[in-house]
Amino acid sequence: ELYRSDKLDEKTHIYGIIGNPVSHTSSPNIHNPGFEAIRYNAVYVPFLVDSVRAFFKLAEMLQIHGFSVTVPHKRSVQPYLGRITREVKQIGSCNTVVRIQNMWKGINTDYYGFLVPIEALIAQGEIRNALVIGAGGASRAVVWALHNHGVKVTILNRSIEHARTLANETMSAYDTLENAYLYSETVDLVVQTTNVGMGDLMGQEPCPSLHFSGKEFVYELVYKPEETVFLKRAKEAGCTIITGKQMLMEQGKLQFEAFTGYHYPHWVDVVL
Ligand code: ATR
Repeated sequence: ELYRSDKLDEKTHIYGIIGNPVSHTSSPNIHNPGFEAIRYNAVYVPFLVDSVRAFFKLAEMLQIHGFSVTVPHKRSVQPYLGRITREVKQIGSCNTVVRIQNMWKGINTDYYGFLVPIEALIAQGEIRNALVIGAGGASRAVVWALHNHGVKVTILNRSIEHARTLANETMSAYDTLENAYLYSETVDLVVQTTNVGMGDLMGQEPCPSLHFSGKEFVYELVYKPEETVFLKRAKEAGCTIITGKQMLMEQGKLQFEAFTGYHYPHWVDVVL
């Protein structure tokens, strides 16, 4: 339905997502209904990509207008970009590439998508201290976003070396996950960025010793399932929760804007 060839013609702009694996991506379900709703002649297609270099050649041949980037290419696309934003440079990760004046520009909408639900709270001084669980790729965008907005961050991670590296770059504090209980009721925001709770690790939580006061905002990046054991526990303690699904949608809307120059149509009922 999304890629019906009779909807395409010589003027159709091609967009897509590159990654491996890429078959389970939900991004087409954001962009294609968005294009359709505003009558924008475009299509968004998943491309299973091993060689980033070969894909950039193809992108020229097909005159691709922009694309999303997922695992394992968020870092390796960067040598092919003519321009990158400050955030891409800081995080070392690019999830969106757009063609601007015959040049490829790399941006990171995970960074901004993460901020959307909490921006006003930070501005109002309601979020000053944060605990970030995990120190992988997703965590880098989160920690840099919080740091750039003046929030004091403590990173808790299974491997202390990964925590230390990111903490040193962002002037954050760090500790191991085992010490999570020491940080109970000390922060305004807790962000869970690890993959514990999804896939093979479904039903588990990364820091069961961390106790919630009920006053914190608790934000989780996992979006499948929408509510993990961790988030359920936070909700039961009375915390305000923000889900990975919200962040996924926000970053998708920003990507749509970068691709088309139009706001994402609010009347689309997106099925993620
Ligand atoms: P992503 O891009 O989703 O952040 P990643 O870069 O592979 O993925 O990072 C995975 C994160 O989840 C890391 O913080 C990892 O901890 P380590 O740095 O110690 O590897 C964390 N993680 C993965 N499996 C975990 C588990 N079983 N328990 C605790 N943390 C785990």
